[in-house]
Amino acid sequence: MIHNERLVRACRRQEVDRAPVWMMRQAGRYLAEYRDIRARIPFLELCKTPELAARVSLQPYEILGVDAVILFSDILIPAQAMGMDLTLSEKGPQLGDPVREMDRVKKLRIPDPSDSTPFVLDTIRILRGELHDEVPLIGFAGAPFTLATYMIEGGTSRNFAEVKRLMHREPKTMHALLAKIAEATIPYLNSQIEAGVHVIQLFDTWAGELSPGNYCEFALPYQQQVFQSLHRGPEGLGVPAILYVNECAAILEMMAESGANVLSIDWRINLDDARLRIGDKLALQGNLDPGALLGTVESISGQAEEMLRRGGDIGYVANLGHGILPMTPVENARAFVETVKKGIKEAA
Ligand code: CP3
Repeated sequence: MIHNERLVRACRRQEVDRAPVWMMRQAGRYLAEYRDIRARIPFLELCKTPELAARVSLQPYEILGVDAVILFSDILIPAQAMGMDLTLSEKGPQLGDPVREMDRVKKLRIPDPSDSTPFVLDTIRILRGELHDEVPLIGFAGAPFTLATYMIEGGTSRNFAEVKRLMHREPKTMHALLAKIAEATIPYLNSQIEAGVHVIQLFDTWAGELSPGNYCEFALPYQQQVFQSLHRGPEGLGVPAILYVNECAAILEMMAESGANVLSIDWRINLDDARLRIGDKLALQGNLDPGALLGTVESISGQAEEMLRRGGDIGYVANLGHGILPMTPVENARAFVETVKKGIKEAA
C-alpha cells in the first residue's frame, strides 16, 4: 500500500481529500540542485547512472513536496536502444541518420529492455527502495507517433515537414515505423511496471499537430495497441495509464478511445469543458500554462485556484499543461504546488 495514494485514487476516479499535484518535467533545470549535478555529468550519462537518476527524480519531491515522483529519463532513450545515434546539445536532442525509408525502418531493433535499458529498471528499483511507499512512482514512454517525429526529423521540429512528407508520400513506411516503435514500447513499459512503477504516462506530445483524420490513422491506433498490451492488472486495482497530448482540444473525444484512464490536457481548453466532452468515464490531468509560472506568486495562486475549480473533486490530477520551463523561479513552482495542497474554499 502507498502512504499518499491521492494520485492513483484520482486516476481511478475514487474519492480523495484534495487533488494530487505533480508537474511534467518536474526534475530539471529550474532546480539549482539539478543544475549542480548536471554541471558534473552530461544529460544522457545522468539518465544511465541509476544512483544519480534516482537522486534527481527525488529532488522535486524533497524540495516542493509534490504527490508523485516521475522516473528521471527521456522519451528518446528507447530510440537509442532501437539503434539510433542520440546526442543532446544546446540545440536540443539530435538523432543521427534519420529514418525516412523502408530499409532504414527494417534496420531498427526491437530491444529487450533488460539488456538495452537496464539502467531504467535499476533506477526504478532504487527509487522504490528510497521512497518506502510514501508516494507513487510514475513510469513513462513516448508514444509511437511522437517518437517517430524525432526519428524522422532527426531532432525537434517546427513544421514536421519530413514527417508529413513520409506520412503522405509513403504511408506504408510510416505505418511500418509506427508499428515497430509500438512493438518496442510495449515491453519497455511492461518492464517498468514489473520493476515497480505505480502509474504509467504515455507522452504523445506532438500528436496535436495532426488533423483529426490523421490523428485517427497515425496516432490513435498505436496508443490503443500500447495501452491494450500493458500488464496493468485488474481495472480499479492495477496500474492506471495517462495519455498526454499537447494542443489536444480538437481531438479529445478520440483520445478518450485510446484506452487510457486519464487524459492529460493542455491549457488551450478549460478542464470543465473537456469534462463535458469526454464524460465521467475518464479522469483528467492538467492544465496550467507553464508560462503562468513566470508570473507572480499572487497571479499563480489565482490561476491555480481557477484551474482547481474547473478540475472538480473527482477524477482530477493537478498538473501543468506541458513541461515546466527551465527559467521558472522555484518559489513560483512552490506557489503552484502549495495552492493545490491548500485547496479551494467552498464559499469562494
Ligand atoms: O518529467 C520529469 O521530470 C522526468 C524526466 C523527463 C525528461 N524528459 C527529462 C529531460 C521526461 C518525462 C521527459 C519527456 C520528454 N522528453 C518529452 C515529452 C514531454 C514534453 O516535454 O513534451 C519530450 C518531447 C522529450 C524530448 C526532449 N528531451 C527534448 C525536446 C529535450 C531538449 C529540450 C530541453 O528541455 O532541454 C530533452 C532533454 C531533457 N529531457 C532535459 C530533461 C531534464 C533537459 C536536459 C538537460 O539537463 O540539459
